[in-house]
Amino acid sequence: MKSEVGRKDKQQFEFETEYAATLREYALGGGEAVLGRAYELGRRAIAERKSLLELVSLHHESLTELFHNSVDRRSQTHLIRASCDFLSECVSPYEMAQRGFQDAVRALRQLNETLEEEIKRIAYSVHDEAGQLLVAVHLALANVAQGLPQEQRAPIAQIEDLLNEVEKHLRRYSHELRPTILDDLGWIPAVRFLAEGISKRANLPIHIEAKVSERLPGTVETALYRVVQEALTNTVKHAKAKNVWIRAWIKDQVLHCSIRDDGAGFDAQAVQSSTGRKGLGLIAMRERLSAIGGNLWIESSQRRGTELQIRLPMEGDHVNSSRARG
Ligand SMILES: Nc1ncnc2c1ncn2[C@@H]1O[C@H](COP(=O)(O)OP(=O)(O)O)[C@@H](O)[C@H]1O
Ligand SMILES: [Mg+2]
Repeated sequence: MKSEVGRKDKQQFEFETEYAATLREYALGGGEAVLGRAYELGRRAIAERKSLLELVSLHHESLTELFHNSVDRRSQTHLIRASCDFLSECVSPYEMAQRGFQDAVRALRQLNETLEEEIKRIAYSVHDEAGQLLVAVHLALANVAQGLPQEQRAPIAQIEDLLNEVEKHLRRYSHELRPTILDDLGWIPAVRFLAEGISKRANLPIHIEAKVSERLPGTVETALYRVVQEALTNTVKHAKAKNVWIRAWIKDQVLHCSIRDDGAGFDAQAVQSSTGRKGLGLIAMRERLSAIGGNLWIESSQRRGTELQIRLPMEGDHVNSSRARG
């Protein structure tokens, strides 16, 4: 640990020294070649995980020192000008990384929308096509029953009861997969519908307290629904909980949603590290939220169970969009 800290300090010191020396060289008339090295320094800063603020503050320190060592006003003016060019070159890798990040978020959002369309399609075909097939089976059974004497019809009635059960479940699952209430009434009623089904199936009380009446753009509501859906699935699958509480509220233009259980808990840090990763659910939740400008915090311990906290600023581009719901 100590040697790791030492290595970082050394790396930091080398970077600072090289930055100051390169800036000096450029100010003394180093030209394009030195500017190319400024760009490389910017790339290195990103690789060494320096924030833009750290880089600018290092620039400020180096410039101040050079400024005080300048011999006259003319060289000070020249130094200021040169340092501006130097800094812009140095931060341009940050600009490119930022653009790359925006492209990635855009691609992610598109992928999400495609997946949602696919889910919609599957939900409708489960509902409609499987429903129609079941109607055909009912008719065929009725035909068979007609050809049988009354006393032999009992097994057919039993099969019909089972088919009715299958139909009920298919209906429920297809609605939960893509609830029409999500489009019609919003994510909170959709979450209530989902929780009601899960609660019955898993025999798990789910308490909901939601103080959000605002409708949000369709992509945002779908993302929130999917995140809560995965959180509830995880609770049923992993937590062995006795209760789940879902709360949603808006404060200071920020939407908050908490999904808490009193179950077994888990080591959230270990599970989310690249080596201890188990499934994709938690990653997908984070990515869905990040695509709409939100965040996810996970607190979990063996004694207190698990709490997922969603935070979504309402003034963001995605949330405030006046686009039609899709
Ligand atoms: N509510 C929870 N209670 C206990 N453990 C959980 C809970 N949510 C997630 N976990 C743990 O985190 C792991 C990763 O979850 P996730 O990424 O959704 O993947 P998966 O559900 O496919 O395993 C789970 O395997 C489980 O060990
Ligand atoms: Mg999961």
